Amino acid sequence: MFTKAAMRRLIARKRDGEALEREALLALIPAYMSDALDDAQMAAFLMACVLRGLNEEETAALTQAFVASGESLEIASDAPMLDKHSSGGVADTTSLIVVPLVAACGVRVGKLAGRALGHTGGTLDKLEAVPGVRTDLEPARFLAQVHDVGCAIAAQSERFVPADKRIYALRDAVAAVPSIGLIAASIVSKKIAGGASAIVYDVKTGNGAFMREPEQARELASLMVRSTRSFGRKAYALVSDMNEPLGASIGATLEMIEARDFLRGTRRDPRLQELCLALARAMLRLAEHPNPDAAIASALANGSAHARLERMLAAQGALPGALEALLPSPQRRVVTAPRAGFLSAIDTPALGEAARELEEHGGPGCGIIVAARIGARLQTGDTLAIVHGTDAKNLEIQAAFTITEHSFAARPLIRDEITR
Ligand code: URA
Repeated sequence: MFTKAAMRRLIARKRDGEALEREALLALIPAYMSDALDDAQMAAFLMACVLRGLNEEETAALTQAFVASGESLEIASDAPMLDKHSSGGVADTTSLIVVPLVAACGVRVGKLAGRALGHTGGTLDKLEAVPGVRTDLEPARFLAQVHDVGCAIAAQSERFVPADKRIYALRDAVAAVPSIGLIAASIVSKKIAGGASAIVYDVKTGNGAFMREPEQARELASLMVRSTRSFGRKAYALVSDMNEPLGASIGATLEMIEARDFLRGTRRDPRLQELCLALARAMLRLAEHPNPDAAIASALANGSAHARLERMLAAQGALPGALEALLPSPQRRVVTAPRAGFLSAIDTPALGEAARELEEHGGPGCGIIVAARIGARLQTGDTLAIVHGTDAKNLEIQAAFTITEHSFAARPLIRDEITR
């Protein structure tokens, strides 16, 4: 039995920078889950991990202990199921696009998604913007839908990785989120318990990401790839730029509309398109698809990816015609450039937070459409953004766009790729 005295010694050793043994970490999580340890000791331990770091062996042991805290889905080896995971961004509709797109190319996708966190959006909130759609699928129903429709996006079951649920809430409460080892253990354990046979990770870097520095994002991405492989699953990661919103739309309904229009082919933001194609290609490669590029091009051109999104939503309860009927809020204001120059920076978290506030006050259909991209040459009065909603945030939204006199080279969207 893991006692409070043993825990005190473990906290002190981590506080002093020691690496901890695998056995101790494997015993710690069940002790906490059975209430033999309290939140105070666990919070102190987590903070010591944030300050002193976790090495790869420690991260692997914690991941294993998280997975063992609940149930796991077992997928038949002859029916591979892929998943993708983003580390959290703004205007990131890639899951809504890539999941049906890859399914339309003949590869099954079962995605377990999350809700909005801080300034970042959540895929579950975007799906639920379509009237009737449910995301609380029981594991058996989730698997049956992946089998019948080819894809499903659902909330993580309460029965998977309960230790992460409890520890994540504690980390949030005591500001112990930004640790590469803790984040990797939290994300990878949920993907393993969800039963995916291959996982593509999109780790964001930049002012709108949890990992602001590219080096940290790269370290997290490569740790998650190695850790996922240690469970016998395939993995790939890319590091993508989040110094500006990925697509044009911020807000659950607006993002669902953007994903719908992308798959219909009526509106495709170039940055969103570049990342979606890279993620879909990576997923098809992991699934050993013989010709990813041709399959993606044809699923987009012949409407089968859009049809798959409609089928997936219908299977999850969407009312007939609900996706097509989605509209932005009619309350619409244009935010313009106060002077001429080059758009040199966007305060991405500020836009994410403003869009969430607009939704909270004004309801569905509210949010922000970003009209100017970093590097753009602007004249006074050019449109920076269109605000859908009811409160007066024009000045704050205008201040999120930095305009300078000099031009500069735009950053590449895909900063790195981790294949091993
Ligand atoms: N997302 C997660 O699921 N866990 C973390 O620790 C951070 C982001």
